[in-house]
Amino acid sequence: MYCVAVPGGETSGASVGEPEPRDALFLRACRGEPTERTPVWFMRQAGRALPEYRRLRANIAMLDSCRDPAMVTEITLQPVRRFRTDAAILFSDIVLPLVAIGMNIDIVAGVGPVVADPIRDRAALSRLRPVTGDDVPYVADAVRTLVGELGPIPLIGFSGAPFTLASYLVEGGPSRTYARTKQLMYTEPRLWHELLGRLADIAIGYLRVQVEAGVSAIQLFDSWAGVLDEVDYRRYVLPHSERVLGAFADAGVPRIHFGVNTGELLGAMAEAGADVVGVDWRVPLDEAARRIGPMRAVQGNLDPAAVFAPADVLADKVHDVCVRGGKAGGHVFNLGHGVLPETDPGVLAHIVDLVHAASPG
Ligand code: CP3
Repeated sequence: MYCVAVPGGETSGASVGEPEPRDALFLRACRGEPTERTPVWFMRQAGRALPEYRRLRANIAMLDSCRDPAMVTEITLQPVRRFRTDAAILFSDIVLPLVAIGMNIDIVAGVGPVVADPIRDRAALSRLRPVTGDDVPYVADAVRTLVGELGPIPLIGFSGAPFTLASYLVEGGPSRTYARTKQLMYTEPRLWHELLGRLADIAIGYLRVQVEAGVSAIQLFDSWAGVLDEVDYRRYVLPHSERVLGAFADAGVPRIHFGVNTGELLGAMAEAGADVVGVDWRVPLDEAARRIGPMRAVQGNLDPAAVFAPADVLADKVHDVCVRGGKAGGHVFNLGHGVLPETDPGVLAHIVDLVHAASPG
């Protein structure tokens, strides 16, 4: 039986004879291979709820911490040490590659990315050029160090998907209605497609840097795609996300495609080229697997607010996710969206134990 080795407090590097990430539980589940137990990691596990993260970040701006390979390495490892998760996710942010090519974006605590110079016309498009390794040397640096430190534990790289990146660039920040984004999409479809084409190139470049530096899987975050209906998603978004995912079809890394409120888009998001489809908590995983179709794994989908439920309610919900996920062609346990900042880290550790104790349905 395969046993997941974990970096100790001081983190140990990979050594001869240790299992390779390739055989790791998480990657096998992504590939739809049988697993003896369900792998688990948490979106936004790196940061937010952890006191050791808050201490480290006390006087350092979010984006500055993302550009410091030592900080990135330490913050990425913190949740793996504490929770014994089956995968690590690189500490970074979806707007980082946009900042790296000169966009004036700040991440405001409690708000999210705020764009000083939104993109709303054709002239502004020229500000978006492709990303190469020279733009983000600290990312490749951190990935290489992390791959050594993590040993057999897979590292997940990620990028924002074209639509979600566009929504920040067009709105100028987070939005509830995405009115400006949709207005541009409907009124200037050619400009829209050029914008998403450029953002797809940026996502491909940014993911390529991470894959070449050694990440074992990639996740495309289309967090806000769920504001679209399926017809619009297919017309205005899918071809661009498909190009991003397609660029890594032969890269040997599972591709996870995630969004929130995407119950009606799950089939289309799978068609875009995902090996694993991330599902939020609104659709039970067995139903999600039906919508996604065979030959693909699912990732999810405990309600992030379930951490505030009494222990017995939480245990029931975790069990239910494991049983329903066991009916899919592979299941990676996760929350339906990121860890909420108010979450007690002890509860996350408990969830890992519950998932590890449950065998796949
Ligand atoms: O653990 C991880 O998931 C790795 C790191 C990670 C961050 N952001 C760090 C971060 C990842 C994968 C992201 C992706 C990201 N960033 C997404 C897609 C995932 C999702 O949640 O849907 C989105 C939409 C963003 C944009 C963004 N960045 C938002 C909405 C926020 C939250 C603002 C807030 O304070 O609530 C951020 C900031 C951010 N990114 C934080 C972290 C740890 C919090 C900043 C802090 O601690 O000061």
